[in-house]
Order: sequence, then structure tokens, then C-alpha cells
Amino acid sequence: MLSARSLFREILDHDESFRLFCSVAAGGEAQGGWENGRIAALVPTAQRALAPKIARHGADEDKHGRIFTALLRRRGFTPLPVPPETDYTVLLERRGIGLAHARLRQDTPLTERDIVVYLAHSRVTEQRAAEQMALLLKHFAGHPEIGRAVRMIAHDEDNHLAYTHEELLRLAAAGHGRFIQRTLRACALAEIRVHRDVSLAVMARMGRLLGWSRIRSALLTAGIHAVYGYERLAGWRRMVTLGTPARRDPLGGPAAPAPEFA
Ligand SMILES: [Fe+2]
Ligand SMILES: [Fe+2]
Repeated sequence: MLSARSLFREILDHDESFRLFCSVAAGGEAQGGWENGRIAALVPTAQRALAPKIARHGADEDKHGRIFTALLRRRGFTPLPVPPETDYTVLLERRGIGLAHARLRQDTPLTERDIVVYLAHSRVTEQRAAEQMALLLKHFAGHPEIGRAVRMIAHDEDNHLAYTHEELLRLAAAGHGRFIQRTLRACALAEIRVHRDVSLAVMARMGRLLGWSRIRSALLTAGIHAVYGYERLAGWRRMVTLGTPARRDPLGGPAAPAPEFA
């Protein structure tokens, strides 16, 4: 069987693949938390109303990182270092997408255009995060070990995505429309490649850990390339549209605590 459900179940049921899955996820979330924390600290004066929302976005991602680390600890593991070829955030940065880490380490305030770049990058990557969590939610919302974590993170990622729509629409109305569209397009086209490459790298490692047959690995590889083909042809467009979200001001207020995890 090659369904998403059976694939995830196999990864969750084996210690080493579970460890890799949670380590890669925790690393990505913690990186997102750091980036958002820095951006919140460097928001330009004209956009200062955004600072608490960016800080909340960062706090949520940090919390997700702690949740994945807590899931690992419960099985008696510590996180593995994230293999470089599976490092989604670093690979995106290397393609010039989002704000460079070297820039975020400086102490000079960002510009309004930098804020657009941050929000466009988030619009695209949060769509990916929300879709991946929705898939986990569909199959594992009631799972005894990860169900609660999946429900909480899926809810947060939906909020993050709604927030980026809301803020980009506001900046589009303020005259940044063309720059937003250009930036979103570049982000989406880079993201679908990075997502393909990371998926191939993760699956290659999972295949080795789980002893997959050559046929099984080849089918999964073909599936990842097929998804990329679809996204390159048409699917990327879903990542660049903007619409008024059903949830308004989704990041107003502090992050919901997760005392059982962190
Ligand atoms: Fe997250
Ligand atoms: Fe997120």
C-alpha cells in the first residue's frame, strides 16, 4: 500500500524514522521561530502595529518546535541534527527567498518592502505547512501519541496562513500590489522546487531506515516528481492568490500555551 496514511503510519511506528521525522520538523519550526523573533524586533516604525503579530507568529513556531522535541523525548530520544539536504528553511534562503539570515542578524530596522518579502515568503510556506498538517489531521487527529500535537499545530498553521492573507491584502491596498504579486510568484516557484528536493531527500533516508524495496522507493520518487510536475504546471497558482480570510485578526493576542508539551 502506498497511501499517505500507510506511509505516515510506517514512519510513526518505527523509532528511527519517527526520530528523523520529528527532528526535521522540530528544526524547521525552531528556525521559523528565530526568524520571526528577529523580524518582530526589526519592524519599521510605520508598520509597528505588526510587531506583536510577528512576535506571536514566532512564539507559535517556537512552541511547535518544542512540541516535536517533546514527542521525541517521550520515546526516549533527543533530536538528531537536521541533515542539510532536508533543511527546507536553509534551502529556501539559498534560493534567495525570504529575508536572509545575515540581514536578520543585523540591528538596522527593516524596510516596508522587507516586510512584504517576509509576508510573501510566509504566505507560501504557511500554505505548505497548513496543507501538510491538514493531511496529518485527516489521518491522525485521534492518534494516541501525536493526535493532540497534530490538532494544535494544524490549527495554528491555518491561523498563520489567514494572517498572511490579511496583512498582504492590507499592504496591497497601501500600494504594494505589484511588488507583492512579483514576490509571491518568485517564492512559490522556488518553494515547489525546494519542497520536491526536500521530499526526495527525506524519502531516501526513510527508505534506508525502513528497508524499502527498490520498487517502493522508485514509486515514491515518481510520485514526488509527479506532484512537482503538477505544481509547476498549475498548482503553484494556489500559493499566490489573496483572499479575505474567514478568521479575522487570527494572530491578535498571545500564543495559546501548550503546558503538556513544553
Ligand atoms: Fe509551525
Ligand atoms: Fe506556521
